Amino acid sequence: MTDSRPIGVFDSGVGGLTVLRELRRQTPSERLLYIADLANFPYGPRPQADVRERALGIIDALTALDTKLVVIACNTATAAALDRARERFDIPVVGVIAPGAQAAVLTTRNGRIAVLSTEGTLRSQAYVHAIKEANPGVAVLGIAAPALVDIVEDGAADTPRADAALRLVLRDVVEWGADTLVLGCTHYPLLRAALRRVIRRRHIAVVDSAETTAARVRRILAVNRLAARAGRQGTLDLFVTDAPERFSETAARLFGETLGPPRMFMIGEPALRVVAER
Ligand code: DGL
Repeated sequence: MTDSRPIGVFDSGVGGLTVLRELRRQTPSERLLYIADLANFPYGPRPQADVRERALGIIDALTALDTKLVVIACNTATAAALDRARERFDIPVVGVIAPGAQAAVLTTRNGRIAVLSTEGTLRSQAYVHAIKEANPGVAVLGIAAPALVDIVEDGAADTPRADAALRLVLRDVVEWGADTLVLGCTHYPLLRAALRRVIRRRHIAVVDSAETTAARVRRILAVNRLAARAGRQGTLDLFVTDAPERFSETAARLFGETLGPPRMFMIGEPALRVVAER
């Protein structure tokens, strides 16, 4: 049995594209819908209840588009809304925190893991819980790095501005003696080049949740017989709630190809309403 319905993926901006890229690689036959909620960017400083409401609204809109599975490609929204989403919707909802935590626990040798995230994710303690669930003996240092989100969203990920911001953060990580650094915000993998420059020869492994999240999606599709027909050519549709041009530029840079312009989503009550249906 195969299922041709799409998979819905969302984030506050371009960050979730790092997960989307991995999904395209690991599930190439799937139809993917991506929503960047730029009208409400950034999620990190918002109260959890606000982020939860936004996230549930977006998932509502995605289910109205007949999605068979949703990926919350944002750590802040995963921390705020994953549990509630699983209660409310009867399709699989996958977050990015547990996959990232598991990748980190498998990577660390000295049992000291630093997690870079937004303030919202740090406040939720979701990484501490997920890492301790996988291995209670591991010590976790949480660091909020909201400036990095803006740097990425401004298209400055590979600039001296990024290097300077990362250098500040890395000082704490090195001082504390972490051997593993989790990029606990989906925007941060876009800083990989700058990170390499700043980390240089230090022995710090950098992990993110893109690959493990996509692997989890692949498994859930297989177990629940939800996968698209193998060999079918997958598709990608992009939506934004604001600033379509800026989004297009970053997306094209990330994927190394020109992707069609994103379509606008308008906010309607109680959920987002698709205004440009294909
Ligand atoms: N990319 C998002 C995350 O993983 C959040 C960025 C933001 O909107 O603050 O947490």
